[in-house]
Amino acid sequence: MSNPLKTVASDAKTLWHLAVRRAKGKTHAERLENFYSGQAGDYDDFRRRMLHSRQEMIQSIPVPEGGVWVDLGAGTGENAEHIGEPISQLSKMYLIDLSESLLEQAQRRVDANGWTNVTPVCYDATQFVPEEGAADVVTFSYSLTMIPDWFRAIDHAWNLLRPGGVIGVVDFYVSRKHPEENFSKHGWGTRTFWQPWFASDNVFLSPDHLPYLKNKFETVSLSERRGKIPYLPFVRAPHYLFIGKKPTSSDTTDEA
Ligand SMILES: C[S@@+](CC[C@H](N)C(=O)[O-])C[C@H]1O[C@@H](n2cnc3c(N)ncnc32)[C@H](O)[C@@H]1O
Repeated sequence: MSNPLKTVASDAKTLWHLAVRRAKGKTHAERLENFYSGQAGDYDDFRRRMLHSRQEMIQSIPVPEGGVWVDLGAGTGENAEHIGEPISQLSKMYLIDLSESLLEQAQRRVDANGWTNVTPVCYDATQFVPEEGAADVVTFSYSLTMIPDWFRAIDHAWNLLRPGGVIGVVDFYVSRKHPEENFSKHGWGTRTFWQPWFASDNVFLSPDHLPYLKNKFETVSLSERRGKIPYLPFVRAPHYLFIGKKPTSSDTTDEA
């Protein structure tokens, strides 16, 4: 059973990092490490209550037998646990992040689970290429909003994926003022409140991530939702869950 005093102390530390401490550094990697180094040990408990639908996103992707799965902006590697026992079917899973402190937690998780096919790697998500040369699955959970060149990260995921490969993304966002038909439309309050609130922690919610993903990949499923944020009782932050596929040449021929 969790100790409530320990939880309060851990939350206070995390909230101080989120609300008060400004991430310093000349490069993106330095700013990330500066932001996460003091809260890496408390990361999982707090983010479990804030980063919704991660497990569902991961578990809605069929695990490819002998396949390669690349999790970009993997943090502490919790997504590997969400895959569960089928993770043993993968030939390799790469957990890519630029924060050494979070990757240390990921390595602990790998050791604790005895996974021999899961490797944390400190690398930029817009540049990492596995030694196998291609991936069957690429995932981003709450990382696109922290990657400045998010469009490059999505383009890179496309290049990494073999034809027929699957992309899974879950992240915060705000809708366009005039979204396409059948998409959620957020009111002025939602569009105005969340962007600056998250931006103070270098998390940049965009109305363009989702249209860009939809434009690039074949949509397998899409769900737009809202979820609680710890210590903000009256509001719910919007997030989406997107599963897409890189078409095979026969998909393209069928369409022609
Ligand atoms: C909000 S955290 C999410 C972590 C994890 N995916 C999860 O669901 O808990 C965003 C992560 O993206 C990583 N990140 C941001 N920019 C990155 C980049 N260019 N390359 C690799 N990782 C990056 C951060 O270090 C951080 O671990």
